[in-house]
Amino acid sequence: MSPPRRKAVADLRSHRWFGRDDLRTFGHRSRAKQLGYAAEDFLGKPVIAVLNTWSEANTCHSHFRTRAEEVKRGVWQAGGFPLEMPVLSLGETYMKPSPMLYRNLLAMETEEILRSNPIDGVVLMGGCDKTVPGLLMGATSMNVPALFLPAGPMLRGCWRGQVLGSGSDAWKYWTEKRAGLLDECALREIEDGIARSPGTCMTMGTASTMAAAAEALGMSLPGASSIPAVDSAHSRLATACGRRIVEMVFEDLKPRDVLTTEAFENAVTTTMALGGSTNAVVHLVAMAGRAGARLDLHRFDALSRGTPFLANIRPSGEYLMEDFYYAGGLRGLMVRIRDLLHLDCVTASGRTLGECLDGAEVHDERVIAPRERPLGPEGGLAVLRGNLAPDGAVIKHTAMDPRLRTHSGPAVVFRDYDDLERRIDDPALDVTPDSVLVLQSAGPIGGPGMPEWGMLPLPKKLLAQGVRDMVRVSDARMSGTSYGACVLHVAPESFVGGPLALVRDGDVIELDVPERRLALRVDDAELGRRRAAWAPPAPPYARGFGALYARHVTQADTGCDFDFLQGTAPVPEPEIH
Ligand code: FES
Repeated sequence: MSPPRRKAVADLRSHRWFGRDDLRTFGHRSRAKQLGYAAEDFLGKPVIAVLNTWSEANTCHSHFRTRAEEVKRGVWQAGGFPLEMPVLSLGETYMKPSPMLYRNLLAMETEEILRSNPIDGVVLMGGCDKTVPGLLMGATSMNVPALFLPAGPMLRGCWRGQVLGSGSDAWKYWTEKRAGLLDECALREIEDGIARSPGTCMTMGTASTMAAAAEALGMSLPGASSIPAVDSAHSRLATACGRRIVEMVFEDLKPRDVLTTEAFENAVTTTMALGGSTNAVVHLVAMAGRAGARLDLHRFDALSRGTPFLANIRPSGEYLMEDFYYAGGLRGLMVRIRDLLHLDCVTASGRTLGECLDGAEVHDERVIAPRERPLGPEGGLAVLRGNLAPDGAVIKHTAMDPRLRTHSGPAVVFRDYDDLERRIDDPALDVTPDSVLVLQSAGPIGGPGMPEWGMLPLPKKLLAQGVRDMVRVSDARMSGTSYGACVLHVAPESFVGGPLALVRDGDVIELDVPERRLALRVDDAELGRRRAAWAPPAPPYARGFGALYARHVTQADTGCDFDFLQGTAPVPEPEIH
């Protein structure tokens, strides 16, 4: 068999900018020289974009300036010409109402910056939740060789000798404070110790989940997603990414060669074995839509049921990402579910997934459980359906009080988050531990941006009685670091008239996780009357990006992508005249 054809320099996209003999090429070359580069630095070399989501407003990416230099070192070593380009930085901590409002904007920016510039290949530097899908969606639509460099998780948090996990322990200790069990001084100490280094949340939140999914998809180098951000191995990874992307350009290995339906199934299966974030559902469905792969909520649920839960990481387990790395990391975990994966999928490394897993081991079975003794018989996520969620809803059933997996109770309805904040701690609120808390207007359009409000706070008076979990239902998302019996992503959302909009105080809601059911026990005739009386709320934005977003965003079950960005229609190359 003859070896695959390698791309010639004259076939590179950048050759249209730098390799011709016309006035425009003269301008392009002279401006590269303006940057201080000699012809030897850039002529005849693949141009590699280093898309950097560094920003001082993104606390998880504070090491990215250094890492970008390390990527560039690798690009130079391999004979490429690196150009670092800043792109929208979606920092989970500060952006309101939610960076999810802007994930598709980052995807658009990524696609267009790659399309309009002389780029042959790209290293995508992301990590904080929405940056991962945003960058990958844009690169997939542009379909130039792309390699994802994850930011890596931060170090373990620490307080008075106790290990602290991002998000999970913030929720936990804030609840203790609301219950009157923790003083201000202790809370300040926790604030000092919970985020000790650069890097993403070190629990199995959305960032850890999506970085793992990117690796399982084959879009990162093997082992990349588990390396802590400040480990020197992370610097070496960055340089290896720089070297590898140059090779990928010559091999013409593009995202859609990697992102097959089987690759997405690998990502879902891996996510389930990890007890990953519910946000993975929305993002992976959106990403599959860009790649032309088949993935829907049914498939998610089927894969979840067939995958044992093995990663003992908070919020569903005990340990943190640093422990996971020392225990063997994602390759160790994937070796344990090898029989459930499509091992012949090609990865960005140029090797098959099976080859990437060869030699991987587990070093600590307390962190990565053996198949014979899984932490749970099935994956961490269930897809629910019923008359309250005709297009589906999700729940992370590994991170909830098992007693509530089958539960019926009367609804206590909050029409939006302001209403919730106003009334949740009202001593007169008619609520018991059996009530089902319902939040409306928190979906993709209603939120807007489907904020992570799905872990509704529990009423203070119930906290004081020792209640720590209740069934909650909303069209919002939930942070991957959160926990509780929270039914999320109810579709269609209440803002567009989904049945969630019709729920009233006292209606009985039935949750049955084993049967995957979410039902509103109100008869059809009554629901019909309520629907006839329902009026759509005013749109949250009259102009600007928010108005564009509201017009084009799809519902949670189809990934909340923009309708005009979905699909695989080719992206035309720009004219150069
Ligand atoms: Fe950035 Fe959690 S806030 S990953």
